Amino acid sequence: MKITSTVLAFSLVIGSLTCYGVARAHGTEKHGTMVPTDAQMKKLHTMMPLFSDASAAMETALKNGDVKALETEAEKITGAIADLKKSVPHRNTAQREKFVARAAQLEKTVVTTVALGKKGLFTEAKASFKKVEAACASCHATFRD
Ligand code: HEC
Repeated sequence: MKITSTVLAFSLVIGSLTCYGVARAHGTEKHGTMVPTDAQMKKLHTMMPLFSDASAAMETALKNGDVKALETEAEKITGAIADLKKSVPHRNTAQREKFVARAAQLEKTVVTTVALGKKGLFTEAKASFKKVEAACASCHATFRD
């Protein structure tokens, strides 16, 4: 009973930290090897529409020169990167390093895009946003399509 409630409390804390209602799997972190679990795959599936919406909204914000919206939408993506890195795709699951590198690349391009937008350099920010889309696509090429 005690163990169950500790696990439950742990799950609640982690769950609220990540802001995702999806139950977390504990097994992989504990044993150090990355064995995909249904929960981790489901999580990725849940996360992606957020990426899609936020990146579309970033593009709109860039068109409108709306720096505040650009920042807000970008934060939705950057705030989910840690979780993305922990998630597990369906394909090429053995290529962990590459998956994590793709997630890091996405973060980097998003951060650069916002920095340029904040300086009012919208032409450059739009060019940088193309690299955001490329980062989405390069991960999908290996791990989704
Ligand atoms: C680190 C890898 C990675 C990055 C970066 C990434 N995705 Fe994905 N994405 C995936 C994987 C893997 C799937 C397939 C998910 C599944 O099979 O459940 C996916 C699926 C999707 C889907 C289809 C919905 C679904 O759950 O199958 C959309 C839409 C999507 N991604 C949008 C984006 C957008 C937009 C970006 C960039 C802002 C992005 N993704 C960045 C790995 C990534």
